[in-house]
Amino acid sequence: MAVEFFPVSRIRRLFDKLLRRLGIGGRDGLSPASAVESAYARWAPVYDWVFTAPLIAGQRAAAREANRHAGELVEVGVGTGLSLPLYDPSLSITGIDLSKPMLARARDRIRRKKLKNVAALRAMDASQMDFQDARFDIATVMYVVSVVPDPAAVLKELERVVRPGGTVIIVNHFASERGVLAAIERFLARFAENLGWDPLFPREKVLANTSMVLESESRHGPFGLFTMMVFRR
Ligand SMILES: C[S@@+](CC[C@H](N)C(=O)[O-])C[C@H]1O[C@@H](n2cnc3c(N)ncnc32)[C@H](O)[C@@H]1O
Repeated sequence: MAVEFFPVSRIRRLFDKLLRRLGIGGRDGLSPASAVESAYARWAPVYDWVFTAPLIAGQRAAAREANRHAGELVEVGVGTGLSLPLYDPSLSITGIDLSKPMLARARDRIRRKKLKNVAALRAMDASQMDFQDARFDIATVMYVVSVVPDPAAVLKELERVVRPGGTVIIVNHFASERGVLAAIERFLARFAENLGWDPLFPREKVLANTSMVLESESRHGPFGLFTMMVFRR
């Protein structure tokens, strides 16, 4: 009998059990979009509790960058609206998300924080946005490109809805090439379906699918886990 020095299968079973306890596991047989909706319906009640601390640095960096510009901003995959209070009051913000339970939390936040600069929150698929061409001056897309079933379609839509000369800000974790992080990502990738994102998402998947000009790239958050890319449309 082979002895497992590092009990991967045992850890995997325990992790799976934990996700199911949290109500986050088990979405077999769903289409990719329904699977995302199902995952985030389950994440919505605990999302802020679990993700505020790890994600805030990237959200702050993106909002800081967005606040250097003026006009209409679309936040794609706005989720529970964690970043909404970070935008300058002079910007007019539209948030979209596929998940209605996540949007309901964002609405609560707008009410609680009395935010006046959020013009609309809409349930919408980022790969088929219901906006006219060049409608926005700025787009922010935080922790979303590795979640959507078709990132190339989302990038194409971003190019369409942001005006020429406008700004597109993408924040995400991209796959590490080596080291401890790469090992953790490979482990987490086994749960990609249940987690609702792809821990092995490569940064090339963004760069190869856009003709926008990459103006800057910087690292944020714990251990520089998250990358912010700023594009000129
Ligand atoms: C990891 S959360 C990030 C939420 C938020 N941007 C933040 O920083 O906390 C990913 C969000 O993307 C949304 N999402 C996934 N696929 C989508 C799609 N095709 N169109 C719009 N939103 C989508 C999910 O519902 C979820 O709210």
